[in-house]
Amino acid sequence: MRFAVIADVHGNALALKAVLADIDHRAIAHVVNLGDVFSGPLDARSTAELLMSRDWPTVRGNHDRYLIEQNPADMGPSDRVAYDQLRPEHLDWLRSLPATRTVYDDVYACHATPRDDTRYWMERVMADSTIRQATLAEIEAELDHEAAHANIILCGHTHIPRVARLSSGALLINPGSAGCPAYDDTEPVPHIMQTGTPNASYAIVEKQEVGWDVSFRSVPYDHNAAASQARAQGRDDWARGLENGWL
Ligand SMILES: [Fe+2]
Repeated sequence: MRFAVIADVHGNALALKAVLADIDHRAIAHVVNLGDVFSGPLDARSTAELLMSRDWPTVRGNHDRYLIEQNPADMGPSDRVAYDQLRPEHLDWLRSLPATRTVYDDVYACHATPRDDTRYWMERVMADSTIRQATLAEIEAELDHEAAHANIILCGHTHIPRVARLSSGALLINPGSAGCPAYDDTEPVPHIMQTGTPNASYAIVEKQEVGWDVSFRSVPYDHNAAASQARAQGRDDWARGLENGWL
């Protein structure tokens, strides 16, 4: 069994195209998508057309949920740009997505954690705004019954590529973000998450005789063109992250 894992495309169709080309070049037939697909000051409509043309197992992210739950007038600016670009069928597709699912018998997929689509699973934000890796006990405390029975557990949301082995021997994998390499947030305290490269991140997971092999890909693409899309929406913060991978 070999499959690719993508997450947090965030409306970046240019990055998604580069990731798709890399996946196709490697003849990888199976892909799991961990959500937060459209939200961002970029190109949600092209992203929707690219993703919906491929019938991949997908879970809904928090920003996907905001696009179908919130009144447009109350949406955050990144969600609102995406919402205004999307057609009714794109929003219907979001409504059809489950929050979590198990695929290929023993691969569990969620956006952030099994119970909460906004919670960081493999990182912790400290009171002084620094980020640390979550401990094994903190990670295992988030498991639910279904996730605890999987051999591969997939999460996204924090945009940081990472793999951890749990006590059971299962692997918890975050493929990083395909479309948004750096962002800041105000909750629980102001902090920055950044991969340090503008490249598009995703992961390839393959079952081998001795265990599961995980490869993290960092794919170059025309990130300055994506930054220009953000600048055209007045989002210099997004543009800086897309240009550099650092904020
Ligand atoms: Fe998210």
